[in-house]
Amino acid sequence: MRIIKTKDYDDMSRKAANVISAVMTEKPNCVLGLATGSSPIGTYKNLIERCANGDIDFSQVTTVNLDEYKGLDHENDQSYYYFMRENLFKHVNIDMNNTNVPNGMEPDAEKACEAYNEIIHSVGQIDLQLLGIGHDGHIGFNEPADYFPKETHCVDLTETTINANARFFATKEDVPTQAYTMGIQTIMSAKKVLMVASGADKADIIAQAFFGPVTPQVPASILQFHPDFILVADEAALSKVNL
Ligand code: F6R
Repeated sequence: MRIIKTKDYDDMSRKAANVISAVMTEKPNCVLGLATGSSPIGTYKNLIERCANGDIDFSQVTTVNLDEYKGLDHENDQSYYYFMRENLFKHVNIDMNNTNVPNGMEPDAEKACEAYNEIIHSVGQIDLQLLGIGHDGHIGFNEPADYFPKETHCVDLTETTINANARFFATKEDVPTQAYTMGIQTIMSAKKVLMVASGADKADIIAQAFFGPVTPQVPASILQFHPDFILVADEAALSKVNL
């Protein structure tokens, strides 16, 4: 595990983009595992700028996203497909046929997960998996549990998550109650894993996940065992650990 300590969110975003750019330069047809959420938005902005400058090229890149809400279509502004299109894909020269997000509109969970696993197997090894971390240590939608889930599965969102998401929807009934997520084994199979974390509210979980015991109760802690895991985090997120 390597830790890169940055001044702030912008610095974190630039440095994370450096790591991704290096992989893309070395392997133009690389497979990138991508995340949504507030943590990677700055990283995506940096990648967009670099692509516009001609420093990186997405034309041969394939992407697989971590997760998607069940029941939200591509035009729903809370869907992760929409997030990816708005925050990255539409601004770079990627072939949309080479981008993959679990199909939130497949109501049969078994079918949706099987189809996504097939996609993951068909694209080959993920060269770099980008991650954020939840306050409870979740990665993707892999929440604290008694075991590490292996491949794509359907999760029931916790009441806390549903309530937290309610502000983004017209009514609470519109809030998705389930999501499809890549499993921990898939994340751990990536050649390189890059996590971005920013802000004092992430300090406790960063200390627990990477300086505490490896346990499925803190899903991100498994990354301590990954042979090429890089955490790029700002001073605030690293404020509870001695480096
Ligand atoms: C996003 C995802 C989540 C987020 C995590 C942190 O695709 O899978 O695990 O990475 O919830 O979210 P932010 O970055 O908004 O703090």
